[in-house]
Amino acid sequence: MMMSPPFDNDALKQALSATSAAVERTMEPELAVPSGPEARVVEAMRYAFFSGGKRLRPFLVLASAELFGVDRQQALRVAGAVECVHCYSLVHDDLPAMDDDDMRRGKATVHKAFDEATAILAGDSLMTLAFELLVDPKTHADPNVRLALIGALARASGHHGMVGGQMIDLSANDHELGEAEIYRLQQMKTGALISFSAEAGGIMGHASPHAQASLQGYARDLGLAFQIADDLLDVEGTPEEVGKATQKDADAGKATLVGIMGVERARKQAEILANQAIEHLSDFDDKAALLRAVAHFAIFRRT
Ligand code: IPE
Ligand code: IPE
Ligand code: MG
Ligand code: MG
Ligand code: MG
Repeated sequence: MMMSPPFDNDALKQALSATSAAVERTMEPELAVPSGPEARVVEAMRYAFFSGGKRLRPFLVLASAELFGVDRQQALRVAGAVECVHCYSLVHDDLPAMDDDDMRRGKATVHKAFDEATAILAGDSLMTLAFELLVDPKTHADPNVRLALIGALARASGHHGMVGGQMIDLSANDHELGEAEIYRLQQMKTGALISFSAEAGGIMGHASPHAQASLQGYARDLGLAFQIADDLLDVEGTPEEVGKATQKDADAGKATLVGIMGVERARKQAEILANQAIEHLSDFDDKAALLRAVAHFAIFRRT
């Protein structure tokens, strides 16, 4: 049986929906539809971006930025950038050549609503838009900070990070990977972008190396817990709850901790990781309350 969340969910829910509204306001002009025939790809980008989603990564950017007194408008641009990369990763993840999914965030996937070529291009262009956002002086006055953000997001997105993890995810057969290898896969596939998000505020706010190390530790454990929860929801959730098909990973032979440990042990592991994530925040005061709450949300969520 699912335990009930050990925290008051309301403040977090409010913060998540405020994040969602603010990041959408920030991205609206960046995704204005042009008048030429290239409009179609922008329609597809908008369809992928403005489609709900928990906005966890933007939330982490804003919450970490707040720890260091970073300007919220600037942080919102970084939040938009990481959500662009995330949405691109989902559009491509759903393609027939990858997980072949028809539903995402409760709607038809981009290649179903448009077509495969448009979905590929929309993903490509969401990725590059992320870097356009970061390079702009509106994101931060200090060009060194902008370069640091660009480098960090590039590493988190590419073959050292998300893309590398997706490659392992697609190549690995069920039971071929051990626990440590699955952790590595998940750290790359999901953890890297989550880590970027939690570290971005520190980069923007010139956080001390000690504070950055705390956030790194937090994000690492959170990212792993978050992906275990995703894998648990594939087994235990319904498509109505999660807005995407469930019961797919086992048949697809996906290497997951749930697959090798079973549901009970995997859930225990996610709880341990979420608690560990919170431990890393011990140097921060009440300002990190929402970061603590989101670590619980990551594992108790049903969406
Ligand atoms: C789904 O991510 C893919 C994973 C990396 C687990 P989310 O669960 O954050 O998806 P949205 O953004 O809320 O739709
Ligand atoms: C995808 O993991 C992680 C990405 C980098 C997109 P999954 O394939 O498990 O994500 P869902 O379950 O389709 O959202
Ligand atoms: Mg996948
Ligand atoms: Mg998938
Ligand atoms: Mg999944």
